[in-house]
Amino acid sequence: MTSHTVLGIETSCDETAAAVLRLEDGHATILSEIVRSQVEDHAPYGGVVPEIAARAHADIADQVVAKAIGESGLKLSDMDAVAATSGPGLIGGVMVGMMTGKALALAVGKPFIPVNHLEGHALSPRLAEDCPFPYLLLLVSGGHCQFIEVTGLGQYRRLGTTIDDAAGEAFDKLAKLLDLGFPGGPAVERTAQGGDPARYRLPRPLMDRPGLDMSFAGLKTAAARIIEQGGMSQQDVSDLCASYQTAIADCLSARADRALGLFEVEGAKRLVVAGGVAANGAIRQALEHVAEGHGARLIAPPLRHCTDNAAMIALAGAEHLAAGALGPDAMRFAARPRWPLDEASALSNPVYGGGKRGAKA
Ligand code: KG4
Ligand code: ZN
Repeated sequence: MTSHTVLGIETSCDETAAAVLRLEDGHATILSEIVRSQVEDHAPYGGVVPEIAARAHADIADQVVAKAIGESGLKLSDMDAVAATSGPGLIGGVMVGMMTGKALALAVGKPFIPVNHLEGHALSPRLAEDCPFPYLLLLVSGGHCQFIEVTGLGQYRRLGTTIDDAAGEAFDKLAKLLDLGFPGGPAVERTAQGGDPARYRLPRPLMDRPGLDMSFAGLKTAAARIIEQGGMSQQDVSDLCASYQTAIADCLSARADRALGLFEVEGAKRLVVAGGVAANGAIRQALEHVAEGHGARLIAPPLRHCTDNAAMIALAGAEHLAAGALGPDAMRFAARPRWPLDEASALSNPVYGGGKRGAKA
């Protein structure tokens, strides 16, 4: 039996996280996982403030790592490697986690594995379930909204992406306009309960266009126009949240429907939804319906593995270690604020965020 035990570290956004995971013959066991959220630090600003995030990671990263190692019942020297998110993300936070990982690896003479945060999300369904390759991944979070065809370790093809805001960002922006609090997704979902989803006619951009790209910025603008008119009752607010949530669910499920149609696999089809927005009941339900129509199974990892966590980073590291696919220069890897999973697609068709900093997605 081959066994690889890896310490994973995640600091790319507003979660400081560490986990110890063992991969034995393709089966992952999480020995410990710690997530410290900074939500309260950012709440007064209605969004994540990069400088505050970096400082908060620097303050507690070592404690979070020590706690994860302690709870695993192992010692740092028992690890076969240390993996840390090395991009994409808020660069200050990424550097804190990556430098912590490099220092720990160096201290015990074990390999350091720089992990692409998006690869962590892409592999996250394999943490808990039997989820063999290939599968279609819809990654929907505050920072990303992409369809990715996952055919094997390191084999990711971007099929479509948002051309402006991510779906989570759209939820957060509506919550900000309506003063519902941060993070916005859960607040909008709560407020939408009892609301009429057909009350406001909101746009569903790009839905009639070919391809799998998405767009959510126009939705926010349409909602802003309605809110600007003022005089909204509590029921109006509920109706707007319900209409908005339904518009997002419609866009995602129409795209998922087309993506599943394009996704040619032999045997069982799998649609995986990951990222914070996967917590949304209406969106899950809509995707469930689409998957059923294609004879596919919808796999939604448990919420703690949908949102940012270090277990998925440790898993990505362990899978690369098990495959013997580590680059020789990991210690010299420079943190990357932008690091598309599918670099070829991102370079040939940057969609957005091109320019001198490189493609974003
Ligand atoms: O994956 P995540 O924790 O962080 C990253 O962005 O990487 O996702 C956070 C996003 C936020 O935009 C938040 O508003 C959204 O996920 N979210 C939700 C729900 N819970 C979290 N959106 C809609 N409905 C929810 N229940
Ligand atoms: Zn993430």
